[in-house]
Amino acid sequence: MKKVMAILMALLLTAAMLLSFGACTGKEAEKVKVLTEYELTAESYAFAVAKGNTELKNAANDLLAELKENGKFDEILSSYFDGTATFTYENTVSAIPKGNDRDKYLVVATNAFFPPFEYYEGNKLSGIDIELASLLAEKLDKTLYVADMEFDSVITSVTSGESDIGMAGMTVNAERLEKVDFTDEYYESAQVLITLESDETFKDVKSADDIVAILKEQSKSFIVGTQNGTTGYMYSNGDESFGYDGFTNLTTNGYTAGALAVQDLVNGKVNAVIIDKQPAIMIAKSFNEDK
Ligand code: ARG
Repeated sequence: MKKVMAILMALLLTAAMLLSFGACTGKEAEKVKVLTEYELTAESYAFAVAKGNTELKNAANDLLAELKENGKFDEILSSYFDGTATFTYENTVSAIPKGNDRDKYLVVATNAFFPPFEYYEGNKLSGIDIELASLLAEKLDKTLYVADMEFDSVITSVTSGESDIGMAGMTVNAERLEKVDFTDEYYESAQVLITLESDETFKDVKSADDIVAILKEQSKSFIVGTQNGTTGYMYSNGDESFGYDGFTNLTTNGYTAGALAVQDLVNGKVNAVIIDKQPAIMIAKSFNEDK
């Protein structure tokens, strides 16, 4: 009898261990996937300067043209895409310089939660836009100051003169063109969808239109996470000047960073995330590698 009890206890213990192990690995295994091949929008990035600031606009355009001409531009881009980039930048002062010193600086407005365009590497800044910003500052013989802020403050920071230029993976659109001037476009992008890897809602899609059709079928309990003030938010929630009706049938939630939306996807609080393609790939990769 004792023996039977002992065996039973051992079995129970093993079962309990397996269960708790399963519960935590089950959670850890919750990976995300990016539906990269289905581009929901067609967008182009450019840098934003205050209306009429042709001097800075031209300098940025000259830099872009030079870098494209000598092959450096493609080198920079691919180094971030394949993960070999080594460039980092640290501000030399702790706040946007004011007064007499202001002129010595190129103040760049960005939101540094958008890899591979701008992100933190430890406490240093890195990314395509940051590296281009440092080259622009060098060209202008100025010291770079990167002003990291919420994405939806970037344009105001430029129009108010607090910052000189917005370099933030920013899509050119009609609404923004009313407020700022854009440089030449330097990168083509698109909104894409991120879901949990285990989610089968979109398993049969064969085109972006199929995704749109499925999104249109959802109800208010279906939540799409996006970054505040971005074209992803405008696409999901609707935006007249951007030319998207939005999915008024579902719920669009805005986050201060794309990664926070993905965090809520993993936590089961949102059903899908809509964000720019390269950032989607990078953010998904870092979430999945943590598993
Ligand atoms: N391309 C999108 C837009 O212009 C998203 C940009 C987000 N950029 C950032 N640095 N967080 O709205």
